[in-house]
Amino acid sequence: MSTHLLDHFSTQLDQLKQQGNLRQFSANLQQDRYITINQQRMLNLASNDYLGLAADIQLREQFFDETLNAQRWMSSSSSRLLTGNFPEYEQLEASLSHAFHGRAALLFNSGYHMNIGILPALADSKTLILADKLVHASMIDGIRLSTAKYVRYRHNDLIHLTQLLEKYHEDAAIERIIVVTESIFSMDGDETDLAELVRIKKQFAKVMLYVDEAHAIGVRGERGLGCAEQYAVIDEIDLLVGTFGKAMASVGGYLICHPVIREYLINSMRPLIFSTAQPPICMAWTDFILRQVLQLDAKRQHLLQISRQLQQAVLSQGYDCPSSSHIVPVIIGESQKTVAQAKALQAAGFYIMPVRPPTVPQHSSRLRISLTASISAAEIDQLATLL
Ligand SMILES: Cc1ncc(COP(=O)(O)O)c(C=O)c1O
Repeated sequence: MSTHLLDHFSTQLDQLKQQGNLRQFSANLQQDRYITINQQRMLNLASNDYLGLAADIQLREQFFDETLNAQRWMSSSSSRLLTGNFPEYEQLEASLSHAFHGRAALLFNSGYHMNIGILPALADSKTLILADKLVHASMIDGIRLSTAKYVRYRHNDLIHLTQLLEKYHEDAAIERIIVVTESIFSMDGDETDLAELVRIKKQFAKVMLYVDEAHAIGVRGERGLGCAEQYAVIDEIDLLVGTFGKAMASVGGYLICHPVIREYLINSMRPLIFSTAQPPICMAWTDFILRQVLQLDAKRQHLLQISRQLQQAVLSQGYDCPSSSHIVPVIIGESQKTVAQAKALQAAGFYIMPVRPPTVPQHSSRLRISLTASISAAEIDQLATLL
């Protein structure tokens, strides 16, 4: 490639660097609750391993002891529609279906695949998508790939959503409206009032709800089935999605839905049809983890307590903190300052990452503290004094 062609990209990278927005991989070593980077060992406060299960070596050993070598398929070598549909897939879907009140379950290679696949498959030009302003990039990409009309409502503003529904519901050109939101939001750690959302939906016959529980599965509800379980609305959410890469200590995405929708997606969802299915061993591991998670209410309660403790500490230091969950942002504003504060906390032994635009809106750069059930109240106290 000529240097002339490369210059274009180098200039853009220089600009990102000047703005404090350049992203880089860092070599890290993770062990238990700690992460070591450049030989510095820090308490890991940037992990999505919310229940501490990914770091649990005994759990891993138990799984491999129970799983015979002959069952340890490391590749499915095909899409599920060809030869990739191993029994492990069917087993995990059956377990999910059983947990989620007998509703149908469908698996995806990742949460990203899930969100960029389901929405374009279901939403055609006669569909309107109403999405919360802060939904994850994967849902935005899914919406962009669809041919639907698309309007965003103010973050968590269900009055604004209702106004939009009233405006569009009688439009004869619109046959379906899909309302898209997260239950716990990935960057602000605040949550949607799912009970109210369901109440609103029931007033509008054309509406389907699409709720992403990526940050709530495993963490909320008596059995860890997410905010939908916590607010007793599992049966009311038409398209209930989540991911296994966070509290579930695995990888992949799932949808809980009506069997007709499941069958329709198997026949129309491109990332499902045209991609090699995940290795069966991952399915077996997720199924194993699901069985554990259903019984981990004590961990969930602990996580709730330390989350409240940290939210209070952040607020009492005068920072903005919208969180009502285990994701606790400390909103600083400018990227350079946020990076400097993250570095200072890292030097003091707390691994906290800065999150900057475009992941969050301009001038809302933040320290994103994500708590796991392995962290103690004493460690939160230490962190609070540093803040
Ligand atoms: C709300 C939400 N949905 C989906 C995803 C994507 O999930 P995955 O990491 O499994 O691709 C994420 C990932 O961070 C997320 O925060």
